[in-house]
Amino acid sequence: MRILVIGSGGREHALVWKLAQSPHVTQMWCAPGNAGIAGERLAKNGAPVQCVKLGAEDLPGLLTFAQEQHAELTVVGPDNPLALGIVDLWQKDGRRIWGPNQKAAQFEASKVFSQRFMEKYGIPTARAGTFAEFPAASRFAASLGGRCAVKADGLALGKGVLICHDMAQADRAIEEVLVKGAFGKAGASIVIQELLEGMEISLHALCDGQTAKLFPTAQDHKRALDGDLGLNTGGMGAYSPAPFLSEAELAAVGDSILTPWLRGCAAEGIDFHGILYPGVMLTRTGPKVLEFNARFGDPETQAYLTRLENDLVELLTASIDGTLGDLALKWNPMPSVCVVMASAGYPGSYAKGKPILELDKAARLPNTKVFHAGTANAGEQVVTAGGRVLGVTAWGKDLRTARDAAYAAVDIIRFEGVQFRRDIAAKALAVAVGKAEVRM
Ligand code: AMP
Ligand code: GLY
Repeated sequence: MRILVIGSGGREHALVWKLAQSPHVTQMWCAPGNAGIAGERLAKNGAPVQCVKLGAEDLPGLLTFAQEQHAELTVVGPDNPLALGIVDLWQKDGRRIWGPNQKAAQFEASKVFSQRFMEKYGIPTARAGTFAEFPAASRFAASLGGRCAVKADGLALGKGVLICHDMAQADRAIEEVLVKGAFGKAGASIVIQELLEGMEISLHALCDGQTAKLFPTAQDHKRALDGDLGLNTGGMGAYSPAPFLSEAELAAVGDSILTPWLRGCAAEGIDFHGILYPGVMLTRTGPKVLEFNARFGDPETQAYLTRLENDLVELLTASIDGTLGDLALKWNPMPSVCVVMASAGYPGSYAKGKPILELDKAARLPNTKVFHAGTANAGEQVVTAGGRVLGVTAWGKDLRTARDAAYAAVDIIRFEGVQFRRDIAAKALAVAVGKAEVRM
């Protein structure tokens, strides 16, 4: 099978790496890819994965490429092309593509849509309202004592959520988004949710239009600095599984979200093929969905796919064809930990082009895979080319072993200005020794 993967981050490197292991794959391209992706080879025939200089949002360019190369399957990593309707475009052209269509991608592309959907179909979520005018929004925030999350409706590069602790902050946030247009059209309407407290986890479910197969838990680390301090980022590290739910609790939480979600999709005529990724807060009064994403989480994917035992081509094919019900997801019980190495300044502005040293040495470590996020080839060197540069991922017999292995690799790799968190998976290890309170 000839496969085109779209995207260029750690998530896409993990997807490419896992797909490349499948005996079904005879040729693979990635648009635009990165230096790590360009270094992958197919298990079947040793052919290198080819990176193509086309942006993930260049839909006409990508379609022409898929047509010319006779790509038999296209796999979409990021949210933007999904929101732009890449799946509908491919389907009109009679081409196979994995990911939700534009209507289904609204779960991520519109927080107003998602919030209303959750309320209509009884999916546990935060108390919330949706607004397009300042006075009503401000009144609702006041009813929450100003303790709220103000969320731009549309996609805002992961920056569209403002956490407020008092009315002054809330009014400022509402004004920024609704009145001053800090996120442009994405902020023409907003969702205001009550501020929830608890442990935040990531859930993922692979869906085929009728069936949703729940993954194990994962936990991301969204803030830039240790102790969940600093600015929000795209994710500074993740691990799976997260030990805050037993198997039975996870099944119950999954059911409380996915059963009404599937019912709602059927009622609304939403044909969702792809990954549904709910961000969930485990609160004292039960799990609540903060938001839905309609694609794989990054860095969660890097932890997940190093644990997945199924052939990913077969899973994605079943997700497209509506035959997931016949398949069982199989996971390596070994936990996996991904530590992101980022450029100085990230998530703000950062320099590019810094040589990355000792990648080969780290690659020789056992039970370790160094996924690339923002990297490029410059002559003989691999250099930094993004905010998040690498997702150093390792697995082991228990979480501590996996985490130690990931940090052993991190400690070998060097580039100027590198920053990373030292406490990825620390919350889970604290639970293991009984130090953390688990709120459920
Ligand atoms: P979102 O993009 O909606 O996931 O929001 C980004 C981050 O803001 C989440 O990962 C949470 O850490 C935080 N957040 C979002 N909504 C809430 C909420 N209602 N209460 C507390 N924290 C929230
Ligand atoms: N894990 C955060 C994200 O992918 O949005």
